Amino acid sequence: MIALVGCGTVGGGIALLLTRDLPFLKEKTGLNVGLKYIVDINFDHAKEIGIPSNLFETDYNKVLNDPEVTIVIELVGGLTFAKDVVSKALIAKKNVVTANKALLANFGEELFGLARKNGVAIGFEASCAGGIPIVKTLTEGMAANKIDGVYGIVNGTCNYILTQMIDQGMSYADALKGAQAEGLAEADPTLDVNGMDSAHKISILGSLAFGYNCELSAVTTTGIEDIDIYDVSIGREMGYTIKLLAIAETYDNKVSLRVQPSFISDSHPLAKISGPFNGVSLYGHAVGHTMYYGRGAGALPTASAIGADVIAVAQGTQKIVFDSYKYWPDITEKPEYMALSDVESEFYLRLNVEDHVGVTATITKILAANSISISAIHQKSIRPKDARSKNIPIVILTHKTKCGNMDNAILELQNESRISKNIVSIPVIEEKEETIH
Ligand code: HSE
Repeated sequence: MIALVGCGTVGGGIALLLTRDLPFLKEKTGLNVGLKYIVDINFDHAKEIGIPSNLFETDYNKVLNDPEVTIVIELVGGLTFAKDVVSKALIAKKNVVTANKALLANFGEELFGLARKNGVAIGFEASCAGGIPIVKTLTEGMAANKIDGVYGIVNGTCNYILTQMIDQGMSYADALKGAQAEGLAEADPTLDVNGMDSAHKISILGSLAFGYNCELSAVTTTGIEDIDIYDVSIGREMGYTIKLLAIAETYDNKVSLRVQPSFISDSHPLAKISGPFNGVSLYGHAVGHTMYYGRGAGALPTASAIGADVIAVAQGTQKIVFDSYKYWPDITEKPEYMALSDVESEFYLRLNVEDHVGVTATITKILAANSISISAIHQKSIRPKDARSKNIPIVILTHKTKCGNMDNAILELQNESRISKNIVSIPVIEEKEETIH
């Protein structure tokens, strides 16, 4: 039997699936995956969606002491109380299913170790990309592949905001307000828009992909808060779409993990992932390029992933995969990381400059001195008459260069008196070349 801890929006979704849809699940799987307890302190939402009140329980110890409960679903979120709920369940030798990416990204090594010590497993399909079965894709479907790279749009809130900026020409602030009004962003969306939610997810996905313990602290993270609609529009005119990409790549056994607003070519399938949807692009050495698309949040889409874990635990496959493969952070090494300064990328650069003789020559000289080759340069028009600033924007696209070269060039450009200090640089991401090898 199952105990659910936390019955908010996502908890309500899995509570519905395991009550309203139980006859269907039993018939489909042959398993009895019924709920015995829903533990919370407030059952308003559960009552509102029609969950039977005989399941409601306020005392978590009852779950821990009930030998009939073999699976605890943790959906309280956060780090402190959630860690307590999960640790106590594992120590009581109960399998855990969780959607808590922050918990696993911060304490995965410890919690997976605790699960192993107690002979149980942790299911966490819902922690990354919501309803997209990306965890099982990496741990089972792609099990015969060496993974070369993972490129994900794994935060629906950011993707919705950026899509509104792209399609409606909205400012970041207005698009965020719109997302909150539509219920697509949390009242406090900090972890979404600052990139941390994506960082949690890519540290988990990177660990599974490469069989290394990819630490959260190694993810270089930039959010979308400073994205200016001007750059979104100019990028669009140049054939690029802006996305918040979570990237895990290997270069000669070194791992690079990063979350960054990036331009990708309009022709790439990830550019088509719009609104609150998520998309993940995976490269396996045998299969080549594969793509996954779906809803990254929401009560029932997330419950779909939680339900898959519940079934896998009840069937016994979760434990078999957990025991036999070597991609869990408690039994894998930390990787050697590639410094971001050594990662190569093309760049979009926007400089605000005084319209003065020799300014473009200064820019190109500094770029050349840092081994940066220009692929396109764009000065749309002279300064508009009503512009508040006397500066004009110059946009440059570069060929591939090391990120470290770009950082140095920007520092030098910022020292020039006719160039404004606020220089925008956005990587233009080309995924790894598909090689079947
Ligand atoms: N807040 C996340 C998103 C979903 O907006 O995609 C849960 O990780």
